[in-house]
Order: sequence, then structure tokens, then C-alpha cells
Amino acid sequence: MLKINELSIGYNSKPIVENFNLHIEKGDMLTIIGPNGSGKSTILKGIGRLLKSMGGTVYLDGKLLWEMSNKDIAKEMACLSQHNTAPKDMTIRKLVGFGRTPHKTWFESLNEEDEEIIDWAIKRTNLKDIEDKKIVNTSGGERQRAWMAMALAQEPKILLLDEPTTYLDINNQIEILDLVKELNEKLKLTVVMVLHDLNQAAKYSSKVLVLKSGEVQAVGEPEEILDKELMRNVYNVDVDILKNQFGEKLILIPKKIHKWSKE
Ligand SMILES: Nc1ncnc2c1ncn2[C@@H]1O[C@H](COP(=O)(O)OP(=O)(O)OP(=O)(O)O)[C@@H](O)[C@H]1O
Ligand SMILES: [Mg+2]
Repeated sequence: MLKINELSIGYNSKPIVENFNLHIEKGDMLTIIGPNGSGKSTILKGIGRLLKSMGGTVYLDGKLLWEMSNKDIAKEMACLSQHNTAPKDMTIRKLVGFGRTPHKTWFESLNEEDEEIIDWAIKRTNLKDIEDKKIVNTSGGERQRAWMAMALAQEPKILLLDEPTTYLDINNQIEILDLVKELNEKLKLTVVMVLHDLNQAAKYSSKVLVLKSGEVQAVGEPEEILDKELMRNVYNVDVDILKNQFGEKLILIPKKIHKWSKE
């Protein structure tokens, strides 16, 4: 579905991530974790073609990403960035409606089917009561959910989510992640996301990719790769690792922070 080969990507001709390889199959739910500044958002921007590559290739369903039109990419892939800005005067419903743009020609207005999809996205992100509120008057969490609803209204096959739980209280975090997981399971929606919460990464992902200083440290099923040594190497913290009551999912409890060594 998504084949990334030897991708180099960065800013101002300086690569942050070099020779990055990743193959994502339909229905995967892959989470990228790693310290601040390790290149997680940069990779997501590269996959979403928000940044130009400095080398390598990305194939989306067999088509070279650089050769596809913006509209064709948007029909396949929706991207929720870490930092979003919307015109402050726009209502939530109007913002979500923009998710339908890739499916329309420039002169076409939204039809009944589009309105139904917008309605579905608004309801699934618990925004129905405030759909006519202007973005300027929303809280950080409401705004985050509005962007999520816009991405869902796009009806993508691949969802790229950069820290989708930022600004959300714990209830809304679980609600959004459960929703993404449900769409992943029922519709085989492919998900590539960035999370900071290691336990959420372990619980919700079929695969985890661990990044440090632009380099992949490990990739695989959470239960297989997330261990004490890796966490210490990547985050410089000691963790206790427990299994949940069913003996399958991991629970990581950070317990000690080490001073960064100089080498
Ligand atoms: N627009 C930019 N111009 C120049 N350098 C940038 C730009 N955006 C990010 N960087 C640099 O690229 C590196 C990787 O940044 P990136 O945003 O990918 O990190 P991240 O892993 O997503 O971090 P965080 O967890 O803080 O979101 C950092 O050193 C950062 O300073
Ligand atoms: Mg980031």
C-alpha cells in the first residue's frame, strides 16, 4: 500500500532522516515513537508529501508519490498535522466540509451524500452540539477533534496522524484512539501516527517504529520490541514493563531518569 525506499528528508537542504525504509500494508496501524526532535513529524510530512524529498522514493498503491496530483493524493490519504491553523471565523462544520474537497470538481457544491458524510464525521468526534461554533471560540481539544473530523470526512484509505491526542483530556484521548482503531478494524483503514504515550502506542498499534536522532532503532510488534534496554537507549529512562490482566498488552512505567552521557 505504501512503500518507502531510501527516503531522505529534511529542511533547507539538510537531511534530518536519511535512507529511511518502511513498507506499510493495508490495515496496518503503525505508530512512530521517539524523543522530541527525533524526526517523527518530518517522516510523516514526507509520507504526506508536505515536504519535498531529498532522495529515495515513496510509492502509494504502486504509484510514485511525486508524480501524483494533490487531489489524487488527498483522495487516498488524509493528514492531521501537529500544528494546524484554520481561518478563525470559520465554523466547525464548514471546516469539516473541506474534507470533501478532493472528491469534488472545483465548481461542484456539496450534495446530500457529502452532508451525510460530514454529519457522520461530526457525530463520531462528538462535535454535533457545537458544529456551528466558530473555530476562534473553540477550546484546544474541540479544535483538535474538528481537524480529526475533517480528516475523516475525506474518507481516506490512509490516515496520517501527528499526535492526534494533543490537547485532549484522557476521556477524549481514548475516544479518538478507539475510533481510529474501530475504523482500522472495520474499514481496513491504514493508519500511520505519532504518539508520545508509550502505553497508548503499545495498546493501539499493530506495529511500532522507534526513532532516535533520525535513525530507526527498532520496528515491529509492540510486545516484541518495547523492552527496558530499548527504552533506556532511546529515552534515557528506566521502565518497569508489566503485562495487562490478560497477559498480552504491555504497560510501561517510567521510574528513573538518567543524566545524558556525553558520548
Ligand atoms: N521547518 C523546519 N525547519 C528547519 N528545521 C526543522 C523544521 N521543522 C523541524 N526541524 C528540525 O528537524 C528535526 C526533527 O523535527 P521533527 O519535527 O520531525 O521532530 P519530532 O520527532 O516530530 O519532535 P516532537 O516530538 O517535538 O514533535 C528537529 O531538529 C527540528 O529542529
Ligand atoms: Mg513532531
